[in-house]
Amino acid sequence: MKNKNLKLWGGRFKGSTSSIVEEFTQSLDYDSHLYVHDIAGSQAHAAMLADQGVLTEEEARQIKSGLDQVREEIENGSFVWEKALEDVHMNIEKRLTEIIGPAGQKLHTGRSRNDQVALDFRLYTAECLTTWQVELKSLMQVFLTKAKAGQDVLLPGYTHLQPAQPVSLAHHLLAYVQMFKRDYERVTEILQRTGISPLGAAALAGTTYPVIPESIASQLGLKGVFANSMDAVSDRDFVLEALFAGSLIMTHLSRFCEEIILWSNPGFGFINLSDAYSTGSSIMPQKKNPDVAELIRGKTGSVYGRLMALLTTMKALPLTYNRDMQEDKAPMVEAHQTVNSCLRVMTGMIEEMTFNDDSMRAALKKGFLNATEMADYLVLKGIPFREAHHITGRAVAYAEQKGAGLEDLSLDELRSFDASIGKDIYMVLDYHEAVKRRGTPGSTGPESVSAQIDAVEKWLMSEGEGVV
Ligand code: ARG
Repeated sequence: MKNKNLKLWGGRFKGSTSSIVEEFTQSLDYDSHLYVHDIAGSQAHAAMLADQGVLTEEEARQIKSGLDQVREEIENGSFVWEKALEDVHMNIEKRLTEIIGPAGQKLHTGRSRNDQVALDFRLYTAECLTTWQVELKSLMQVFLTKAKAGQDVLLPGYTHLQPAQPVSLAHHLLAYVQMFKRDYERVTEILQRTGISPLGAAALAGTTYPVIPESIASQLGLKGVFANSMDAVSDRDFVLEALFAGSLIMTHLSRFCEEIILWSNPGFGFINLSDAYSTGSSIMPQKKNPDVAELIRGKTGSVYGRLMALLTTMKALPLTYNRDMQEDKAPMVEAHQTVNSCLRVMTGMIEEMTFNDDSMRAALKKGFLNATEMADYLVLKGIPFREAHHITGRAVAYAEQKGAGLEDLSLDELRSFDASIGKDIYMVLDYHEAVKRRGTPGSTGPESVSAQIDAVEKWLMSEGEGVV
């Protein structure tokens, strides 16, 4: 295939590019996702050039309307993508010139694909991050609704996946709300660093044309402009940060998925997944599998992989732009699809999931979750904590042998471990009382839980204004 004449950079070449090299170097599969941003960036650039007298007003007008037409053609499917034109930038510029003629050839004045692609990718990444924030808020809302309904429901809290102390279901769910809130706030910070316009850096050293980077930034709603042209064209920190934020979102989703998988096992029986969010087995008729939770847990690995891939691509690149950096798009495009769909499907799954309060209550009886309460009770009677711990341990061993809970032992049995024990111990051993007594901020006690709910509700309301 002879494509020499198609190339916008073909002037110094005598021979044509090999077709396997064209296929190898093109990036359309991924960067065509950036077309909206490429067009917006070019329109802003042309308007700035006209303000500066580098283009005439008429040329800028033609560029603007020509690019509007290109966008329409892409959206209605009539645009013909040419792999021989390498990337989204060249495809759009070539078509623009076909539509408007000579003015199209002036668009690239004072600009390089190096600052152009950096701008497009910043805009794309910012759009992904903003979408994640919207989804994170919906997810938090669903957790909050379930938490409000679960304030009086108790279940075992675990450490080492062993029964530890009773907690309210609300408190357990609110722990995840805190994770998602941190995810949201992390994304807000990354958005600030992503929203910096690199246009005007040109290839690497800046340009001799009187460009005004601030004009581009303000036209595109970006908060800042680059400080160093070499950094501007070679920085991909914003993508790496976005991939890290996505990885941590996936970590949080995956941790709850792990609990969903455990809790839906009949051995726990704490939850029922709705039919809409579970699947059956092709051979075992009784099965209802938590495949959605397993897939979210599984996809977490692929998002981490994309972060590692780009970190590795970037680690040995000398300044400034290197073609290696074209490998930045696939990880972000793919990670975005995964993170976004996992957030959505998780929200739906939690919304439709129901809790079995009775199974959770029954589980409290297995595992001596009130042993700490007994030790604390003995401390109040004046026994040093270490000794109280030991006495309680002996009572647990005794009850375990009997197949009973501490609360099922008679007063005489309990007093055989320490004579200071009185009737009031039964109140202390009650699981609800154990939760209620935890009155300090941030603990599982009811005042703390309702304070957490209020604070999250307020936060969700105030953050709502900042998000589209
Ligand atoms: N397709 C390229 C990329 O994604 C655009 C920048 C190309 N720049 C260059 N000097 N070849 O990185």
